Amino acid sequence: MCGIVGYTGSKEAAPILVAGLRRLEYRGYDSAGIAAVEDGSLEVRKQAGRVSVLEELLRLRPVKASNGISHTRWATHGPATDVNAHPHVGGRAGRRSTAVVHNGVIENHASIRRELEAEGFAFLGQTDTEVVAHLMARELERGDDPMDALLRVLPRLEGTYGLAVVTADRPGEVLGARLGSPLVVGVGEGEHLLASDPVAIAPHTANVAYLQDGEVVRLTADDFEIRHRERGSVTPRIDRIDWKPDAVELGGHAHYMLKEIREQPDTVINACRGRLVRSEGSARLGGLNLTARQLRRARRVVFAACGTSWHAALVGEYLIERLAHLPVEVEYASEFRYRNAPLDDRTLVFVLSQSGETADTLGALREAKRRGHPTLGIVNTVGSTIAREADGGVYLHAGPEVGVASTKAFSAQVAVLTLLALHLGRLRQLSFSEGAAIVDAMESVPALIGEALKAEPIVEAAAESLTKARSVLFLGRDVHYPVALEGALKLKEISYIHAEGYPTAEMKHGPIALIDPETPSVFVAPRGPLHAKTLSNIEEVRARRGPIISVGVAGDDELASVSDHVLPIPDAPEVIQPLLAVVPLQLLAYHVARLKGCDIDKPRNLAKSVTVE
Ligand code: AGP
Repeated sequence: MCGIVGYTGSKEAAPILVAGLRRLEYRGYDSAGIAAVEDGSLEVRKQAGRVSVLEELLRLRPVKASNGISHTRWATHGPATDVNAHPHVGGRAGRRSTAVVHNGVIENHASIRRELEAEGFAFLGQTDTEVVAHLMARELERGDDPMDALLRVLPRLEGTYGLAVVTADRPGEVLGARLGSPLVVGVGEGEHLLASDPVAIAPHTANVAYLQDGEVVRLTADDFEIRHRERGSVTPRIDRIDWKPDAVELGGHAHYMLKEIREQPDTVINACRGRLVRSEGSARLGGLNLTARQLRRARRVVFAACGTSWHAALVGEYLIERLAHLPVEVEYASEFRYRNAPLDDRTLVFVLSQSGETADTLGALREAKRRGHPTLGIVNTVGSTIAREADGGVYLHAGPEVGVASTKAFSAQVAVLTLLALHLGRLRQLSFSEGAAIVDAMESVPALIGEALKAEPIVEAAAESLTKARSVLFLGRDVHYPVALEGALKLKEISYIHAEGYPTAEMKHGPIALIDPETPSVFVAPRGPLHAKTLSNIEEVRARRGPIISVGVAGDDELASVSDHVLPIPDAPEVIQPLLAVVPLQLLAYHVARLKGCDIDKPRNLAKSVTVE
């Protein structure tokens, strides 16, 4: 999952491209580069390392052109080296006629490479992308229009791509093509931009045109045209970006992850705005595009998602089955898309995705659609591919999430799923008073999260005890089991400490063998009908001298008496406890990683939106 930025206009392109790449570093950050046409020849600057390394290179060897393409990489083929960094240049025998940057995977690159090597094209690196540059150069040798050349190259490529291309003979012209990986055009005054995510364009214009699969675009300073590979010329639809450019600024916080954890009271307010219907003791989710009758007739719900979104879906399973007595299945999207799961015609398929671009989740959506199911998206990124392809859905309204480790999006997903459970429940057996109690509870969540955030100093102290741990177990019962899974994922992602989440009672059936003084356990243990059972499970770990950190209600003396650290949350109705219990777990992972000196916003080997399979 790489980040692409392109620019053509009257301003110097390099600073604009570099600033855009900085905003896309959440997508990949192992190497970066730019290419531009200057005085009729291609100027390429690229190097392994962060965008800051490229910036330094450009300070030493500036590029003054007012056009260019750029890239920040998450390696799929070939290690993070200078030669494998993008852009890749195409041309025979040192003739450098074109430069290409790519986000995605060219699955048939090996056979194309052999074909081109046999024709005398020399390959410098180990990436799949370099074949696109040489294919483009070969087509340009025919002297055709670069856009026509690109349209002839694309049918040769199997796999996914977001591409940006410049050609030496056409200074000021930037080409782009999309199949599977996101690309958006920024429509400015006397300038046009191209990017993998509107966040890189926001400082320059709020007017964007999202490229669809199969579309190719040509940008010049004054205009742009889109053509579809098969359907010819396309009339672009211009959308407006609905958030302020500084929404992606750190705003004085040490890290985006910390900023986004602390934003969660507002996140839940935005996720619920206009959706709680006190007069009906219910919730309204207008974007589902399904009538109450269609929702009432549903016999089953399937959620498909990945990573943190999958954990949120699991919370949704517990809540929908409890409040609506509707069977729910939560599928790993990567498995669902190929598993040929038996689905009857009264099954609703929801996909959950913060980015709206995760390839496996998009694949699951397309599979359900292919099988004729109403497909619904619960998505954060407005205008993303999943949002556009789903038949209906719910936006999270959490604003841009920059930290690679998802936090506020999880809370927004759980809030929306609670509203969905309430809505489906009120269409079935949930009474007005039960529904009204849940409306009250949801309205109290932002303040209660605010309370939970105040315990940060206590969490920080507990984090000290985990920095040396080799492995940590996270345990939760019932709806807190997915919260435990999420806590484990956060710790793994940013502190690189191995961690696993389990249903608490499952401990005895194996994982308890891991318990010793070096293997801490984190119990998610707010008050509730299973609290006593959880206390006994904690005793089992204490009996084996395992260190214990518990997330529990402030003032719960019983829990405090059996725990080394208690991360306090306010007492609250069970239905909203997941939204509170996850906060200290996010902060715990954050402070462990901070104490270990890890790169919290750009953890190794990860990327924010996984656009390849
Ligand atoms: C979570 O912190 C990770 N970034 C990752 O697991 C993520 O949740 C997963 O890749 C799904 O992303 P999505 O919600 O954007 O589809």
